[in-house]
Amino acid sequence: MDGKKLIAKRKAMGDGRFVFNMIDVIQGKALLAPLAGITNLPFRLIAREFGCRFCFTEMISANGLIRESSKTIEYLKTCPEDQPLGAQIFGADPALMAEAAKFVAGHHSDLIDINMGCPVRKVVKTGAGAMLMKDPLLAGKIIAAVVNAVDIPVTVKIRSGWSPESINAVEMGRIAEDAGAAAIIVHGRTADQGFSGHADWGVIAQVKRAVKIPVIGNGDIREPADALSMRSETGCDAVMVGRAALGNPWLFRGIDQLFNGVSGRYHPSLHERQTLIEKHWEMETQIYGRRIAGRTFRKHLLWYTKGLTGSGRFREKVGRMTDSREILSELDRYFEALAKSQTELMT
Ligand SMILES: Cc1cc2nc3c(=O)[nH]c(=O)nc-3n(C[C@H](O)[C@H](O)[C@H](O)COP(=O)(O)O)c2cc1C
Repeated sequence: MDGKKLIAKRKAMGDGRFVFNMIDVIQGKALLAPLAGITNLPFRLIAREFGCRFCFTEMISANGLIRESSKTIEYLKTCPEDQPLGAQIFGADPALMAEAAKFVAGHHSDLIDINMGCPVRKVVKTGAGAMLMKDPLLAGKIIAAVVNAVDIPVTVKIRSGWSPESINAVEMGRIAEDAGAAAIIVHGRTADQGFSGHADWGVIAQVKRAVKIPVIGNGDIREPADALSMRSETGCDAVMVGRAALGNPWLFRGIDQLFNGVSGRYHPSLHERQTLIEKHWEMETQIYGRRIAGRTFRKHLLWYTKGLTGSGRFREKVGRMTDSREILSELDRYFEALAKSQTELMT
């Protein structure tokens, strides 16, 4: 693998985007995983505020990009504070993926990630996503086509294999490296596991031993200590966090601290939590408008309040409300009551 592809040449393209060396940017860092329907611009900005060093868009259909469907292009929405950004694309045709990659590279992304891990039926039935774990030859052609089409780094996100009987992450890692990928992201579950069971970090370690390009480990990081364990057990260069970041962007701060030898507090106070919820909602409203934000922010409200005293009742109430002002007032009342009960407990 020559070092050439590791260097992004955005400067030469003159759009002022981030110029970086892959390993310098990710080494020893926590990255936010691509999450469909979740990792939009506001969510990424919030994660970055708490120390996340690299974010990805959710997976974007290469087909949709080629057709220049406005809904698909919306997924590429970004801003200067949202750097460095990886745009994840999926598809099963090398030429089409190359076209989509060119389109993405022209829309302010610093890196392209190819999805080879999505197990969702709608995706695998088209031969894309995790289905490519079953066809390493085609996977290699897709990676090479995308690498040759753009002058920004290309990464590949894979599973450990399709099923326990066909674990082939090491083979896929080598193929990705030979095709010119700048790094490989390994989610240590098989495709047929979906998101259940445990991620096998042993597979991440095997890939790390087999390739020279950076390896990003993913799966089951719930606490800062898990990130540290994954790094020491697998030797991975960076870790990627998915579900545990939902309602808990503070996790990135905790990981950052621990990676730097500090095991400080990372849980927010009630006031910090409420302030962040309101800020996140405001960002969603500003970027997508009140109507869409009112619909899409509900899930974040549930994640942000999960595990807090009386959150079940709060969610039930809010679930029946449609007016965002009404929901915000209820949020205020709920946090006031929480603060009051906390004070009473302390006195
Ligand atoms: C709701 C949801 C949406 C996801 N969307 C994507 C996606 O768009 N692209 C992708 O590569 N992986 C996607 N994933 C997988 C995650 O990126 C990650 O690999 C997986 O959740 C394991 O990491 P975790 O244990 O830290 O959550 C998704 C997972 C979930 C739960």
